[in-house]
Amino acid sequence: MIANFITAVQPAAGAPPASSDFMSDVIAGLSSEPRTLPCKYFYDERGAALFQKICELPEYYITRTEIDILDRHRTEIAAHLGAQINLIGLGTGSGTKTRILIEALERPAGYIPVDISEKQLRKSTALFHKIFPDLEILPVCADYLQPVALPSTRRKAARNVVYFPGSTIGNFEPDEATQFLRRIAKVCCHGGALLIGVDLRKDRDVIEAAYNDTAGVTARFNLNLLARANRELRADFDLQHWQHRAIYNSDAGRIEMYLISQIDQAVHVADYTFEFRSGEKIITEFSYKYAPEGFAALARNAGFEFQKMWTDDARLFGVFYFTCSADTSG
Ligand code: AVI
Repeated sequence: MIANFITAVQPAAGAPPASSDFMSDVIAGLSSEPRTLPCKYFYDERGAALFQKICELPEYYITRTEIDILDRHRTEIAAHLGAQINLIGLGTGSGTKTRILIEALERPAGYIPVDISEKQLRKSTALFHKIFPDLEILPVCADYLQPVALPSTRRKAARNVVYFPGSTIGNFEPDEATQFLRRIAKVCCHGGALLIGVDLRKDRDVIEAAYNDTAGVTARFNLNLLARANRELRADFDLQHWQHRAIYNSDAGRIEMYLISQIDQAVHVADYTFEFRSGEKIITEFSYKYAPEGFAALARNAGFEFQKMWTDDARLFGVFYFTCSADTSG
């Protein structure tokens, strides 16, 4: 049924990034100018739990708003996705949003959730088996950023629909986002579609509040990156001497998350030493926000044709529906 999701079977499906990758990425990132640490390393067990807490914060409108949009427009969204589809969920986590979708779908042929967290996948699959006893569910424990081959469902599907919620696409640089969507287009070719959640551009105050919450959860989430390096890489970051800050860069249309050194200090990571001046920053994450037409243009470049965007009254967030405009299987 489904062609290779990206290009080949992932060798160690489900294995989180190896700590040797973490080591080389941290050394490379701290040696670069400006200094960076990749945001994919936020999500160890502690980071994933903190992210869950972020999603429940009053200031973090993203999760709540996306769920409200799905809830409000579920019938219309399901009608656009059509009957007997294969739903392929990328990073769908606990499955709250996917559950809303599947409940509204007409006789779905199958559900293929792809998630890097085996624990999360087991939990949500067990729950979905209970709620949807007749639905064929084929969980794939893998990093969807890497090549992953998808299984075939028993029932013949009318088409594949990829669901990518949470505005995770915003954590890619726009060029990378285009490349990534091109790979998704290969799964959606032959009449398939993409349903994707995207955070929209809005007032700086609203965005900055979401990433500088008063309870300090995002600060702990950000600082956990240094704590993780201490735990896994024999690093000696003193967390007291680092401060979290998130700033909206309105020209680039993105939140920039930083860890800022509070003093002149030397930090060791295994056998490497890094000197930081007081006020020096490490970039830990970019989170792009899109105008609806800007995101539609990006997706068009990747082979998708814009059909519809559902949004909330304040136009904080968009759930975009695209069809695949070309045969991108080659
Ligand atoms: C996962 N991703 C969409 C989140 C975001 O909003 O960019 C990650 C996050 N970083 C800080 N808060 C949430």
